[in-house]
Amino acid sequence: MCGIVGFVGNEQAAPIVLEGLSRLEYRGYDSTGVAVYAPEKGLQVRKAKGRLQVLSDQLHGGVDLPGTMAMGHTRWATHGVPSDVNSHPQVSTNGRFAVIHNGIVENYMEIKEFLMDHGVQFVSETDTEVVAQLLDYLYDGNLLETVEKMLHRIRGAYSFGIICADEPDKMVGVRKDSPLLLGYGEGFNFFASDVTAFIDRTREVSYLDTNEIAVVTREGIQVYNEYLEPVEKERHHVDWDISAAEKGGYAHFMLKEIMEQPEAIRKTISPRIQNGRVVLDDLHYEADYLNNLDKIYIIACGSSYHVGMAAKYSLEKLLRKPVEVALASEFRYCDPLVTDRTLAIVISQSGETIDTLTAMREAKRLGARVLSIVNVVGSTIARASDDVLYTWAGPEIAVATTKAYSTQLAVIDLLALNFAQTMGTIDQAEYDAILSDLQAIPDKLEQVLKQKDEIAYFASLYFNQSSIFFIGRHLDYAIGMEGSLKLKEISYIHSEAYAAGELKHGTISLIEDGTLVVALASYTPLFEKMISNVVEVKSRGAEVVGLTVDSHSEEMSKTADHIITVPDIHPMLLPSLNVVPMQLFAYYVALQRGCDIDKPRNLAKSVTVE
Ligand code: F6R
Repeated sequence: MCGIVGFVGNEQAAPIVLEGLSRLEYRGYDSTGVAVYAPEKGLQVRKAKGRLQVLSDQLHGGVDLPGTMAMGHTRWATHGVPSDVNSHPQVSTNGRFAVIHNGIVENYMEIKEFLMDHGVQFVSETDTEVVAQLLDYLYDGNLLETVEKMLHRIRGAYSFGIICADEPDKMVGVRKDSPLLLGYGEGFNFFASDVTAFIDRTREVSYLDTNEIAVVTREGIQVYNEYLEPVEKERHHVDWDISAAEKGGYAHFMLKEIMEQPEAIRKTISPRIQNGRVVLDDLHYEADYLNNLDKIYIIACGSSYHVGMAAKYSLEKLLRKPVEVALASEFRYCDPLVTDRTLAIVISQSGETIDTLTAMREAKRLGARVLSIVNVVGSTIARASDDVLYTWAGPEIAVATTKAYSTQLAVIDLLALNFAQTMGTIDQAEYDAILSDLQAIPDKLEQVLKQKDEIAYFASLYFNQSSIFFIGRHLDYAIGMEGSLKLKEISYIHSEAYAAGELKHGTISLIEDGTLVVALASYTPLFEKMISNVVEVKSRGAEVVGLTVDSHSEEMSKTADHIITVPDIHPMLLPSLNVVPMQLFAYYVALQRGCDIDKPRNLAKSVTVE
């Protein structure tokens, strides 16, 4: 995710801000920038695509930029490819306002059009420049009031750092649903997106709440609510060391990323839902084209392939078109049946997986139109596809994917609804029901995450198993596959996922006294059949952890040894909730076994060799 750091004090500010940015590098980024205010030079902005070192070398570690107030940013591209011009800070045309920004301004297009109608010219593709220009348009000589007016014009999830050249020695920090902290020192003060940015200089912090505005000067920090009434902030002393601070206090990036999933899904879906409809601005698929498709191919590897397995069920159900899911490494060698009436959906977190990239090129060569679902903006797969839908999960650092997987699922749900509406294969009541439940996922996930201590307890019972089985039917089977992969990759326990109906065709011979079976039984139409499968394995000596929805918990607890429940939701959306207990279970089992969770042996985050 992007990083923000701002400093005002009595020392030269740019070196301090560059140092702060270097502590945010672990979060991942593709470009950097700083804005510095000095009375004799005014507001100066320097930006560079690529590593922080590039910018730092250009500025001799910041020494070239005089001034005692500065703010800096590490950008992870969302709106517009990584480039010097799209990097932050973004500046208003007359150079009065500089803005750095984490998050997304959802209605930036309508504000941009409004400002263009008033003669404003834009140089970048970013939503952030829209905010800088809007501030300038609204400016009436009072920075605080102007920021307040700006906040009432924008929608989204964001935090901002703002400097106004006309009001020196004062920075403004604002937050809505994207973290921003304040750091208090003697003769200096900070704001930052992450305590790591300033932990070497102060450990006295407070946390901005949503819609609060902080005015930061070297003498002090005053916080206001959205109506500009002063707010007293509680201060906290942070005693984490640097490495714990990087992980936001979590022991591992994987756990941090698991916990970030509600926010990541919110960011991915909310800008794309407008007035009760899914709006995918970047896609232009006509009803004729979609209705004439002979097939949809989903091509991916690993966890992204498992998203494809879940997507098959929902796309076939809503679109009534055949969906084939292919492992990328197999696809290109299997002489695939692709025509110019085939749509290939390619899923990749990194956008650089070589198997997926080459399979995608093959699909294109055979005539398919390629739509990719990618997390890394501007990556090779994103650039090489005909259309791209980004997941806005932010950078994923743990090798085992969690939040990227969840946001891929969310994008598939958006796509299924959007295509079904275009094709006329869904009625309005069903559309509304799914869309409303889709928007409820982040809140329901917060409830699921509250069970983490209970799941940690189950992990403590079973971490010594030599083999663990996941069984499920329909969408639960697809999630079982992901649960099994998560477990084996980070805990090194052998594990397999089976379609529960297949057990009697061979697999059940593996079950013996004490074998752990994780039974996913959340899909209501097949719940009773799953209960029969649980009885089958229990009567062969298995211990069963059952996962189901709240409405089946009583029934499930009569059969399983332990149960985990998730809130009821439209069946098509079950994977988004069910996968999280699987991730937590894998995490806590690996923790008990003392594994290197964020960097499992033999694995790499991005697989760029065949
Ligand atoms: C598992 C995992 C891998 C990736 C796979 C594809 O936790 O992360 O299985 O899903 O290597 O990677 P992307 O999605 O980057 O193409």
